[in-house]
Amino acid sequence: MSNMFDLSGRVAIVSGTASGMGEAMALTFAENGADLVLLDMNTAGNEETAHAIEKMGRRAIPLTCDVSKYSDIDKVYETVDKEFGHVDILSNVAGNGKQGAADEMTMDDVMYVFQNLVLGRFYNTQQAGRRMLKQGRGSIMSLGSIAGVSSLGRQQSVYGMAMAAVIHMTKELSTEWSGRGVRVNAILPAQTVGPKTQAGWDARMSRSPGLKETFLHGIPIGRFGSPDDIRGLALWLASDASSFITGVIIPMDGGNLAMNAGGGYISPTGVSHSTKA
Ligand SMILES: NC(=O)c1ccc[n+]([C@@H]2O[C@H](COP(=O)([O-])OP(=O)(O)OC[C@H]3O[C@@H](n4cnc5c(N)ncnc54)[C@H](O)[C@@H]3O)[C@@H](O)[C@H]2O)c1
Repeated sequence: MSNMFDLSGRVAIVSGTASGMGEAMALTFAENGADLVLLDMNTAGNEETAHAIEKMGRRAIPLTCDVSKYSDIDKVYETVDKEFGHVDILSNVAGNGKQGAADEMTMDDVMYVFQNLVLGRFYNTQQAGRRMLKQGRGSIMSLGSIAGVSSLGRQQSVYGMAMAAVIHMTKELSTEWSGRGVRVNAILPAQTVGPKTQAGWDARMSRSPGLKETFLHGIPIGRFGSPDDIRGLALWLASDASSFITGVIIPMDGGNLAMNAGGGYISPTGVSHSTKA
């Protein structure tokens, strides 16, 4: 039987490839035969990822791109059309949120989060989707968050609203496009930290005593996620191994969403409500 995880001859566009889960996904796709278009605002970090992929004998085109800007995304697809003429996999990973009390956030803050996490993902998905629908084949995956399904209770209302929109986009586009060969799925990570984000993570934990324990109370598996945890899942979704899988929202959360919220919530007067990160 042929290797159903083989991505040889396929072109994958991944955003957020200078760090974390986007970088891990891009490396995994390349290890399994795909050529890559890498989107990140961090030019130097993105070029490092491209070099690692080229060393594997695959093509990698690093593009400096802010996924919240439509004009940047238009340039990406001009390059993809010219250099490859097709796109088979899209992973929407990049995009920043903003934490803040719901009664204090400005509408500019709200728009910033939606522009990054919702409109950027939708526009990128639309551009890739148009090309995939013409081909009659493609796999799209977007990173949402556990925050799009359950309340984190830590002044993340706008982030959670945006991630809920990503989840619903996935369901709607899967319904519209799967019969035409394009599968659309979402991955919902819990707290995930890698070598490039460890220092910022440690600083955040030391600013908020008890936050680490609060997070870990919510993860039955007993540890935070690592970017490498996404590799197998992303490869499966990208490849023919998941050819009947579409419209699914997959937690990558060490059991967080399966657990009753009471397991992770300390008390209304405890750290959860008021902890700032
Ligand atoms: N890490 C977590 O705990 C966690 C949990 C749930 C969801 N998520 C979501 O997963 C995604 C990736 O998280 P990560 O931890 O792998 O991130 P990370 O911080 O390790 O890497 C993010 C990368 O995206 C790039 N980036 C950020 N905004 C961008 C933009 N507008 N345009 C282009 N590039 C941009 C950064 O330069 C960076 O290289 C994010 O959307 C995040 O909200 C993360």
